[in-house]
Amino acid sequence: EDFISLNIFCAPCMKTRAWAKLNLTLDVLGKREDGYHDLCMVMQSVTLHDTLTLTPNEGQGLRVKTNLRFLPTGEKNLAAAAALRFWEALGREPEHLDIEIQKRIPVCAGMAGGSSDAAAVLRALNELAGSPFTPTELAKVGEKVGSDVPYCVLGGTALAEGRGEVLTPLPALPPCWVVACKPDFPISTPELFARIDSCKIRCRPDTAGMLEALKAGSLEEVARRMYNVFEDVLPERYQARVAEIKHVLIQKGALGANMSGTGPTAFGLFDSEEAAREAQAALQEGYRDTFLCRSV
Ligand code: C5P
Repeated sequence: EDFISLNIFCAPCMKTRAWAKLNLTLDVLGKREDGYHDLCMVMQSVTLHDTLTLTPNEGQGLRVKTNLRFLPTGEKNLAAAAALRFWEALGREPEHLDIEIQKRIPVCAGMAGGSSDAAAVLRALNELAGSPFTPTELAKVGEKVGSDVPYCVLGGTALAEGRGEVLTPLPALPPCWVVACKPDFPISTPELFARIDSCKIRCRPDTAGMLEALKAGSLEEVARRMYNVFEDVLPERYQARVAEIKHVLIQKGALGANMSGTGPTAFGLFDSEEAAREAQAALQEGYRDTFLCRSV
């Protein structure tokens, strides 16, 4: 089982990383009885990450602190929810723990930042407890925290189906440079799901072709097949801004560009570091949240 574990013990605390995810493909297959949607997505983790520090405290309960003031500090924070689910699954009382999160992954960006923090907490607590859960079992614990959490527990390149929790590991994305850019407007995930319910999806990603391209190890073929059905249902003014970012990425030499998740982050894949750096520089002029990273 492929499992990224890069936890650093610094007794009595633990420092760990939460990688951002990007969607190489995203397809919505239909609405389910439980209100969720059946999805089919190829996911990829990248080196852009939050850093979490877990430190036991003296009887103050479970507390979350982040460098972003507007994020919830209590159980509404997915990192705290994950810790509670972990102890519940172990049949243990909640512990007294401080979770400090240094956020770098932009919030509400389609990069699973919150889910990734939750997954990092699950991995860290599991390691601290002597690994009572296998990675697959730990992913299952994450299901109750959020649809993207199971994938974030496992990471790497994977096919995610069902709500997002049915995972199949895939051949790794060929090494490349990634430039991700989040324009400065908010997108509501439930709202975008509602928009997709109200219209007919005309174009879909060629997921089978994407799987073939990954198997063949061809970055060009992967990049060419990236597609996200949510891009077609963005409100028009937002659609134009995402298209503009993708245009800059391609102009600067990206082999392909795509929106991630429900957006608004768009990213490009590059086989040249120089081209990627130029794209980053160009986008940084207009967008503060521009990142150069690599696949994990
Ligand atoms: O599972 P999570 O809380 O991350 O999902 C957030 C929202 O995204 C859900 O309330 C739902 O509106 C939508 N969603 C969905 N189908 C999925 C995943 C998420 O409709 N497979």
